[in-house]
Amino acid sequence: MRSNGCGDLRKEHISSNVQLCGWVDRCRDHGGVIFIDLRDSSGTTQITIDPDQGSELFLKAESLRNETVIQIIGIVRSRPEESINSKIKTGEIEVLASNLEVLNEVNQNLPFNVSVHQDEPLREEVRLKHRYLDLRRARMNKNLRIRHKTIQTARRFLESLGFIEIETPILTRSTPEGARDYVVPSRVCGGEWFALPQSPQLFKQLLMVGGLEKYYQVARCFRDEDLRADRQPEFTQLDVEMSFMEQDEILEINERLIAAIWQAIKGIDLPRPFPRMTWNEAMNRYGTDRPDTRFGMELNDVSDIVKDIGFKVFSGAVASGGAVKCITVSNGNECISNVRIKPGGDIFKEAQAGGAGGLAFIRVRESGEIDTIGAIKENLNKTQKEALLHRTKAKPGDLILFGAGATAIVNKTLDRIRQYLARELKLIPNDGQNSSWNFLWIVDFPMFEFNEDEDRLEALHHPFCAPNKEDLGENPNDWVHRLPKARAQAYDLVVNGLELGGGSLRIHDSKLQQTVLEVIGLTTNAINQQFGFLIEALGMGAPPHGGIAFGLDRMIMLLTGEDSIRESIAFPKTQQARCLMTQAPAGVAAHQLNELHVKSTWTDPN
Ligand code: AMO
Repeated sequence: MRSNGCGDLRKEHISSNVQLCGWVDRCRDHGGVIFIDLRDSSGTTQITIDPDQGSELFLKAESLRNETVIQIIGIVRSRPEESINSKIKTGEIEVLASNLEVLNEVNQNLPFNVSVHQDEPLREEVRLKHRYLDLRRARMNKNLRIRHKTIQTARRFLESLGFIEIETPILTRSTPEGARDYVVPSRVCGGEWFALPQSPQLFKQLLMVGGLEKYYQVARCFRDEDLRADRQPEFTQLDVEMSFMEQDEILEINERLIAAIWQAIKGIDLPRPFPRMTWNEAMNRYGTDRPDTRFGMELNDVSDIVKDIGFKVFSGAVASGGAVKCITVSNGNECISNVRIKPGGDIFKEAQAGGAGGLAFIRVRESGEIDTIGAIKENLNKTQKEALLHRTKAKPGDLILFGAGATAIVNKTLDRIRQYLARELKLIPNDGQNSSWNFLWIVDFPMFEFNEDEDRLEALHHPFCAPNKEDLGENPNDWVHRLPKARAQAYDLVVNGLELGGGSLRIHDSKLQQTVLEVIGLTTNAINQQFGFLIEALGMGAPPHGGIAFGLDRMIMLLTGEDSIRESIAFPKTQQARCLMTQAPAGVAAHQLNELHVKSTWTDPN
């Protein structure tokens, strides 16, 4: 149907006869001559319709609506000097049409202008409802091509090392990754349900038991969890697993994989090896296990200095096993007023969103004296004041913000405030996304965290991570006691405050796997029922193995410079986990539910 792409024509094509297909991007009538910008995925070309070429052709062109699909036959010629457009690649030429065929009419009102000339922001709901039109626009078209190239680069890299791509089931049983499952009722096995995989975790481990040794998959995962800009209910992982490798080898291969992708897409040579930080250090210094290390404002624990100054909020926090931590805002006296920190202020609201009741603060005046509200100043003696200024490295003009209470809440609050102020005060380097890529491995995660609601330990990643060998010790009789405090051989890859991927070495010893599942509170019965196949497989010659999964959608969000993973997915869902285009999820016919042995208990609240 076509001899060339619309975006491919150049000066060297002048005098060639060409046949082009595409969409009418826009049509302009310039006193008797009609110009059509014809667009396909390669770009646009100006088509000139001259009445001298016949009135039938001219009449057809006159009535064209934007987005009509047409075919043009014509000859390439150079544009007159004054209409050369150096901004586009085809700007030196135009095609003088001798024939125009309408391949498909537009018979609906367009909800928005698709044109390359349109750059007004559009409401996301409208874009998602008519995603096929949105995909025609340059932004999504470009993003999906970057997505393809990212996946292609990953495939080539992994295949060059002998990894093979293997698909794993979508209809399966629950795989615990910490979110709710999407479930599918079985028609043939009445009363029983499949779960869609939250990740291919167990299958990839079983592939290692199956002797495949180096596996990868571009794997679709499903998690029914609260959605954010970097979460979708259905998302894609670049999932990798390998046998007979230590943690260092796994991290090294994955750094090279990431470097190959950043080189292919951004043309950047990432410095390697990526720095590593233990989970403990990350929590202490940043209050989070995915710190943004592009700026400072680190947390300082000052519990020891302030616990006895007679300020109840501080002493109470420390006495009940919590902490007092603070961040120092450089020149904060100038840019942050008391009003913003006190109830009703924006910083106060951030603190509340982090779970804190409020924030205490100190201002270091130009004289070196400190200034604050009430109790802190009155009671802080000279030594304590000096210790505080020394620990926080606060200088005259600086503001110190304190969080006090349960350590987890203090961390969460100060992490939020730190990020909020960094954005607000523009502390994050933004040089066109070219050098500010702070990749960081977080290592030595704890195996478990305490779930207060359920009064039990739960796996921090998932219960298949191998514990640190030293922490576990040699004697299996000690495992139950040693495991709760053990570190895991687990690692997350964090970049600029975003968790890009996570993985671990796995447990390959069936007894140890059984014990870990007991530690998180599963009964022997439950273990047999849910994980019997895994324990059995581990007992039949499982090799030492480990791996990682990257969030591909997140990776592409970063590579495209977008703020939401919806911009890196062709057909994403909204924050309410809906597809606005197909209107899924939707009701099903009563007979379908009958066949599936399912009865709905849903009642419409309205
Ligand atoms: P994890 O649960 O950390 O690990 O997931 C790996 C990566 O997947 C991405 N991710 C998501 N992306 C979009 N939407 C979501 N709802 C979502 N949830 C997670 C993140 C995350 O780092 N089986 C383990 C991996 C392993 O141990 O090998 C796993 O799934 O970028």
